[in-house]
Amino acid sequence: MANKILYGSIGTKEAMELEDKYGAHNYHPLPVVIARAKGPYVWDPEGKMYFDFLSAYSALNQGHCHPYIIDALKKQADTLTLTSRAFYNNKLGEYEKFVTDFFGYDKVLPMNTGAEAVETAIKLARKWGYEKKGIPHNKAKLVFCENNFHGRTTGVISASTDPTSYKNFGPFLPGIEIIPYNDTEALEMILEEEGEEIAGFIVEPIQGEAGVYVPDEGYLKKSYEICKKHNVLFIADEVQTGIARTGKLLACDWEDVKPDVLILGKAISGGVLPVSAVLADDDKMEVFKPGEHGSTFGGFPLACAVAKAALEIVRDEKLAEKASKLGKIFRQKIRELDSPLVVKVRGKGLLNAVVIKEIKGINAWEVCKQLKQNGLLAKQTHGNIIRFAPPLTITEDQLKQGLKFINISFSQINEMIK
Ligand SMILES: Cc1ncc(COP(=O)(O)O)c(C=O)c1O
Repeated sequence: MANKILYGSIGTKEAMELEDKYGAHNYHPLPVVIARAKGPYVWDPEGKMYFDFLSAYSALNQGHCHPYIIDALKKQADTLTLTSRAFYNNKLGEYEKFVTDFFGYDKVLPMNTGAEAVETAIKLARKWGYEKKGIPHNKAKLVFCENNFHGRTTGVISASTDPTSYKNFGPFLPGIEIIPYNDTEALEMILEEEGEEIAGFIVEPIQGEAGVYVPDEGYLKKSYEICKKHNVLFIADEVQTGIARTGKLLACDWEDVKPDVLILGKAISGGVLPVSAVLADDDKMEVFKPGEHGSTFGGFPLACAVAKAALEIVRDEKLAEKASKLGKIFRQKIRELDSPLVVKVRGKGLLNAVVIKEIKGINAWEVCKQLKQNGLLAKQTHGNIIRFAPPLTITEDQLKQGLKFINISFSQINEMIK
């Protein structure tokens, strides 16, 4: 007999069947259905509780359904949701002042998704290149890193080196140069050779999707200095690393680097709405004139109210400090795991990855299924790498409970591969 449904009107089986039949198969989800969530916990329709150690790819840094953010959402939803930018509204300016003060920039350009914010930064850099740096018409280039992930739009995947992202989606945007990640010599070389036509260097301070690759200490600072030397914009994509995830407000803060252009998304709304932002000072942002860029929803009143509340939580609940402290505990406990499958643990703050060695058919996907069985949700990323990124509001006790589930799962796997 099927289990009783506690949350919603359909059960796990039906929910999965509906997605499979009516939705495009552009994702390969773990076989679990989430029907309710609170803080670091989620529940399936039948009432089984799990720890969420993915946090919607770090969009839920403030935890699921944070009451302060939901309250801001509800209040604003009752008052004013959308005006478009054809008119002023009474929330946008207030939010813009707040968010620019918060991150220390003159101006913000609000968008919705992370990929759109990256597109915005690409347009900004190109326009700045022509109008401020003096790059000849249509010659502007941008430098990206191998194994980057900046989203799924055609412009953005033009810079991807991952065939899953780009294969059969061409032709692509011209003017893109790719260099290895974590390689300041390669950056120096390309800027020496082609710097006059290069407008910007777009980089993730930690490559999240690629498998949480943390660059060498000093990489960001050195890269920033090289960019300065060649009058090239240093553009940080902190969509995944930003908003306290790595133990500082921004991952660039670890090296005291203030990007010329800062790209934010995901947790800027606490996982409540798609909100993204591009921040820069006036001398860059002023290249955008009326009608040259925008989005119907970008900076809509609901987003402004939610994003302001979400950032207040990051500040008031000291989420960066928490991520830093709990991240150390997490990595230490994972390193103590007794499993031949665990090859490497790496990360910063609460953005961590465990590299798995496949043994007897048990790969990262199978480990994730075992974790799920024991009440913890995590997802493998490129190849055999499992990313662990719980909400930053998780308590130390809850984190330790989650670690217990991970420990149990690996012990069970040890038995299976004996
Ligand atoms: C570094 C980075 N940039 C951009 C994006 C794209 O964000 P979105 O999925 O909201 O378009 C992601 C998503 O994972 C990301 O990790």
